Amino acid sequence: MDFKEFRNTLGHFATGVTVITTKNNNKLIGLTANAFSSLSLDPPLILVCIDKKSSSMEAFEEDHPFVVNILNKKQDRDCWRFAKKTDDKFDGCSYSLSEDGIPVLENNLASIQCEVEAVHEGGDHYIITGRVNHVEYDEKGEPLLFFRGKLRELPEKTETM
Ligand SMILES: Cc1cc2nc3c(=O)[nH]c(=O)nc-3n(C[C@H](O)[C@H](O)[C@H](O)COP(=O)(O)O)c2cc1C
Repeated sequence: MDFKEFRNTLGHFATGVTVITTKNNNKLIGLTANAFSSLSLDPPLILVCIDKKSSSMEAFEEDHPFVVNILNKKQDRDCWRFAKKTDDKFDGCSYSLSEDGIPVLENNLASIQCEVEAVHEGGDHYIITGRVNHVEYDEKGEPLLFFRGKLRELPEKTETM
């Protein structure tokens, strides 16, 4: 398997973009992730795949709270801000804190508050499953999309009469 070709092929699966936030002791943690999926309705479960090399991984212990922030089309700066390996990702970023003290980014399309249900091995990633305990969404917002390595927006709907 040619690694680059495999990666390019996966880039043809258009996704939304999320920022996964949590905290480790008192340090706020966040990383951009598009390997997110719904998993189960009853019980309500979601999953996200995180690189074993990600410095954020150490925060994802069983029962630990985290938030899936589904990005709005206007949050491209948040996408790139949380895709970096820096200690100051939250500087200049607007957010509120959930009851568990986890950052919920402002102007999200939707947010899903969870606790870690389980951490599974998945090659060079971990598969984190989350038990959902609170959800919110903006009915009128539009998503930020990721396709062929670039951020996109939904095309404007053309009216036909
Ligand atoms: C659009 C996009 C999607 C990404 N999806 C994932 C993902 O699903 N899982 C992951 O581990 N990293 C993903 N990344 C890369 C991480 O955001 C990046 O490695 C980040 O620096 C990790 O930060 P950390 O090491 O501080 O945890 C994605 C990056 C971008 C730009």
